[in-house]
Amino acid sequence: MEKKTVRTGIVGAGFAARFHYDAITKVHGTHVDVKGVYALDSEQAQEFAKDRGIRCYESLEALIDDVDVVHCCVIVAAHEEVAIAALERDKHVIVEKPLTGYLGDGSDDFHGDRFPKEEALKYGLASVDRMLEAEAKSKGKILYAENWVYAPAIQREREVIEKTGAQILWIHGEEAHSGSHNPTYAYWKYSGGGVLIGKGCHPLTAALYLKRVEGRARDGKPIRPKTVTARAHALTRMDSFRDAGHIRCDYYDIDDFSMMHVTFEDGTLATVFASDIILGGIHNWLEVAANNHRTVCNINPNTAMQVYNPKESNFADVYTVEKIETKQGWTNIPPDEDWFTGYPQEIEAFYRAVAYGEPVESDSRLAADSISTIYSAYVSNERGGAEVEVKVY
Ligand SMILES: NC(=O)c1ccc[n+]([C@@H]2O[C@H](COP(=O)([O-])OP(=O)(O)OC[C@H]3O[C@@H](n4cnc5c(N)ncnc54)[C@H](O)[C@@H]3O)[C@@H](O)[C@H]2O)c1
Repeated sequence: MEKKTVRTGIVGAGFAARFHYDAITKVHGTHVDVKGVYALDSEQAQEFAKDRGIRCYESLEALIDDVDVVHCCVIVAAHEEVAIAALERDKHVIVEKPLTGYLGDGSDDFHGDRFPKEEALKYGLASVDRMLEAEAKSKGKILYAENWVYAPAIQREREVIEKTGAQILWIHGEEAHSGSHNPTYAYWKYSGGGVLIGKGCHPLTAALYLKRVEGRARDGKPIRPKTVTARAHALTRMDSFRDAGHIRCDYYDIDDFSMMHVTFEDGTLATVFASDIILGGIHNWLEVAANNHRTVCNINPNTAMQVYNPKESNFADVYTVEKIETKQGWTNIPPDEDWFTGYPQEIEAFYRAVAYGEPVESDSRLAADSISTIYSAYVSNERGGAEVEVKVY
């Protein structure tokens, strides 16, 4: 079969745009013609374009008109706007996580601690509805960039579940590190919440995905979430927090510790933790307790490569692993961090979907269920951890 060419453009020029671009350069199932980049921060966009020899667009619409697929790598507050603009022009859009959210009421003194979380659920889901409606009317599709779905360990677990007819009884997992470096992350109004959404969405969506896989494989029908019980805390905003200089602690109005406990429609469970208080590098793992096997997916760190370095300064020019505080002593260095994380695999899958219509594992319905579970979790937390029903899509 002759390889098709996919014309592409990136919206946003920050952290996510960089790893999206790197993943684009590794796509092998299609030819890729990178048309350019557009971002609100035009200086940042110009630098991004210059470094990569691509065009810097002056408007979102001009970029969209030139491409088949748009990478939405902007802050959460702008996901809906960018995605709908692409879908309205019949273009596919790869949307970073979380799909969308509730970004406050627009008032200057909006504060994440001081509004009823039912509102976040209502308006967060209204945003989801608008995006799904735009997708339904479009020739383009939402390709949801949840890299955990495409992480090789999760895809191998998918194979085990499909081939053995496993019943998953409990999934537990975590995404954590010592705090996002992004200044906008500190504000609910830019991120749609705190760590519960920002990091919790990763293990949660992987869990929702694997229960879908299980149901699809055995009965031709995905198993969906039914209720959620959750707690969220702001440990570094407590007066009693003692800053020792290792954990980011300048958050304005967001949670930095969270636990979501999901029951599925078949009565089985998933428990996910997400926090910004964990030292020792990024801590991303998912464990599956099934009726016929048990799997531990160590996304990062893992033991594929272990390096001992007796002196910090030896490694001054060596990148080791995301968010590690020190390079001295033993370090688990992922030999290809992006690969273990699922970044190139998700982008490869999306380009194949765009070019050849291949089905996507991480679609808008999975993303919508994830958002619905997350904002129901915030409602649960407000009620002291009471069980809250989850609307499914
Ligand atoms: N999957 C992952 O592992 C992962 C990791 C980091 C970030 N993310 C996600 O990627 C997205 C971007 O995060 P980031 O860390 O790259 O942020 P960033 O602040 O580094 O970059 C954001 C970019 O968006 C641009 N922007 C903001 N509003 C815009 C608008 N209305 N129109 C056009 N451009 C706009 C800014 O100019 C900037 O270039 C977020 O949704 C975040 O959740 C995902």
